[in-house]
Amino acid sequence: MRTLSLLGSTGSIGRQALEVVDSLAGTFPYRVLAMTAGRNVPLFREQARKYRPEVMALADPSLRSEVAANLGEWGGVIEFGPPGLLTAARAGADVVLNAVVGVAGLAATLAALEAGSAVALANKESLVAGGPLIAALLDAGAGPLIPVDSEPSAVLQCLGDSGAQAGLAKIILTASGGPFRGYTAEGLAEVTRDQALAHPTWKMGPKITVDSATLMNKGLEAIEMTWLFRVKPEQVEVVIHPQSIIHSMVELVDGSILAQLSPPDMRLPIQFALTYPRRVPAPWPRYDPVAVGPLTFERPDLNAFRCLHLAYEAAKMKGTASAVLNAANEVAVQSFLDGRLAFAGIAGLVQACLDELPVLPVSSLDDVLAADAAARRLAVRLVGKLG
Ligand SMILES: NC(=O)c1ccc[n+]([C@@H]2O[C@H](COP(=O)([O-])OP(=O)(O)OC[C@H]3O[C@@H](n4cnc5c(N)ncnc54)[C@H](OP(=O)(O)O)[C@@H]3O)[C@@H](O)[C@H]2O)c1
Repeated sequence: MRTLSLLGSTGSIGRQALEVVDSLAGTFPYRVLAMTAGRNVPLFREQARKYRPEVMALADPSLRSEVAANLGEWGGVIEFGPPGLLTAARAGADVVLNAVVGVAGLAATLAALEAGSAVALANKESLVAGGPLIAALLDAGAGPLIPVDSEPSAVLQCLGDSGAQAGLAKIILTASGGPFRGYTAEGLAEVTRDQALAHPTWKMGPKITVDSATLMNKGLEAIEMTWLFRVKPEQVEVVIHPQSIIHSMVELVDGSILAQLSPPDMRLPIQFALTYPRRVPAPWPRYDPVAVGPLTFERPDLNAFRCLHLAYEAAKMKGTASAVLNAANEVAVQSFLDGRLAFAGIAGLVQACLDELPVLPVSSLDDVLAADAAARRLAVRLVGKLG
């Protein structure tokens, strides 16, 4: 039986990953060897009772006393604080599924690859901030690294083992457009937190939902694609596709285009990452082309959705620029969710950090974390002014 280390088990992807583990029990069984969460103790306790992992971690160290009172119920060993995430990443599982949100996931992705595990990567921030480090490990034989995000999963599914990657000309990266599709820059000045959190097609955690509303999520995915498929930023074209049925397309050098289609449901790319490269039957609803009707496409408005433009700029700047973009965006999104920054201020804050901070080379995790910390300090200082 294969073993799984699930990082971020209490989140949107983490919960769906456990559903997939349950549904694979008869065909492609996994034992949950390790499991981590941030601070959701009630759900984590429930999951621990059901899956009985040997290694567990909660990222928030202040939870130690709350949990220590009835540690007996938990079964395995439990660590508190950020190092616990690395212990779980290094637990020796066949697959480490990284479903942590934010750059906090990067060190765990590197640790899992260094420990010889395959990595199923939902945490796109790992590749955005630490792309050169992950690419170097993969080039040295670590991995495989299989994307869980539906769009790069679609590209992987299109390219498959057919050798098409050699003939890859362009990736057409689809975006739903989020709740503010069609809004002008003036219209976006008025939008609220509740509107931003009401995604039309996907149910996700709050950070990625806001990123989908600003289109920063598409920018982060464009950067993710450059590292996963070794293409230049200009070979990734974003197209708005409101039905969220085509999860991305690849254009080959001869002009042929391949696409992957399915209803918007993360359980499919999660399962594909867990069974890769095999295909296993799955119980979820199928795409019915007649019932869904026309599939439509539009170009994104880069003037209204500045975050998408900024992500491409950061990708072209290389070095620590993407880590700065990511950190500034994490601070901006949290500030927006806390009511301290207007929606339109998110792009302004990211732009200011990119303008002000130097672009340095990336050769170690410390390089990335230093750029990340500098961007956070600057972003926190600027929030008051821009908000
Ligand atoms: N949701 C989707 O459909 C989707 C699709 C594609 C890609 N992704 C990517 O998948 C990742 C997770 O997204 P999500 O929507 O599942 O997020 P989420 O619902 O917010 O869940 C995040 C998980 O990470 C844990 N966590 C938070 N901060 C942490 C920290 N500092 N250290 C360790 N663990 C921490 C959380 O724990 P607690 O809840 O216990 O605090 C939770 O288990 C993101 O990178 C996102 O971009 C998500």
